[in-house]
Amino acid sequence: MFSIIACVGKNREIGKNGQLIYHLKNDMAFFKKTTSNHPVAMGRKTWESLNGKLQNRQNIVFSRSDFEGPDLIIHNIDRFISENQNTNEEIFIIGGAKIYQKFIDVAKTLFLTEVDATKPDADAYFPNFNQSDFTQKLIEKGTENNLKYQIIKYNRK
Ligand SMILES: NC(=O)c1ccc[n+]([C@@H]2O[C@H](COP(=O)([O-])OP(=O)(O)OC[C@H]3O[C@@H](n4cnc5c(N)ncnc54)[C@H](OP(=O)(O)O)[C@@H]3O)[C@@H](O)[C@H]2O)c1
Repeated sequence: MFSIIACVGKNREIGKNGQLIYHLKNDMAFFKKTTSNHPVAMGRKTWESLNGKLQNRQNIVFSRSDFEGPDLIIHNIDRFISENQNTNEEIFIIGGAKIYQKFIDVAKTLFLTEVDATKPDADAYFPNFNQSDFTQKLIEKGTENNLKYQIIKYNRK
């Protein structure tokens, strides 16, 4: 099964120039706590934005090419989805925009850190999704660097 995890602005912005927009310590801590000891799967561009592998997690990267570094490179996303959609293992989809788009309709759970801010010149966005398809649970809310945020767990009904 797939769980999506992302940090989004008010207009669902998630990135600019290949990097994150918001850097909230509490969000990073939540990401680490939630994904540790689970596989994490990401697009090649998100992989390149990291400083190497995320520790204590199997690092899966989607790409049409082969290269060194990740634990596993997947060329065929559709086959990966059909082979893993109904398993008990929780695979975290950690971005970016292209990859969220591929998984938004098959993910059972979305963990969204919703930041109360906008970034008009963002170049990567989280996909639109129908909120009425999900129940919502507030996990955490707070303010950091003058930015209000809330972490919501969306469970598909
Ligand atoms: N706010 C957040 O929570 C968050 C999380 C993650 C990332 N981000 C941001 O999102 C941005 C990156 O997003 P992005 O959409 O540009 O890139 P991305 O989704 O990270 O990666 C795109 C790459 O994935 C591979 N790919 C995509 N579709 C594929 C398919 N059908 N089959 C095989 N491989 C496929 C391709 O790699 P190849 O070109 O190698 O074939 C493609 O170039 C960055 O700014 C990053 O910081 C934000």
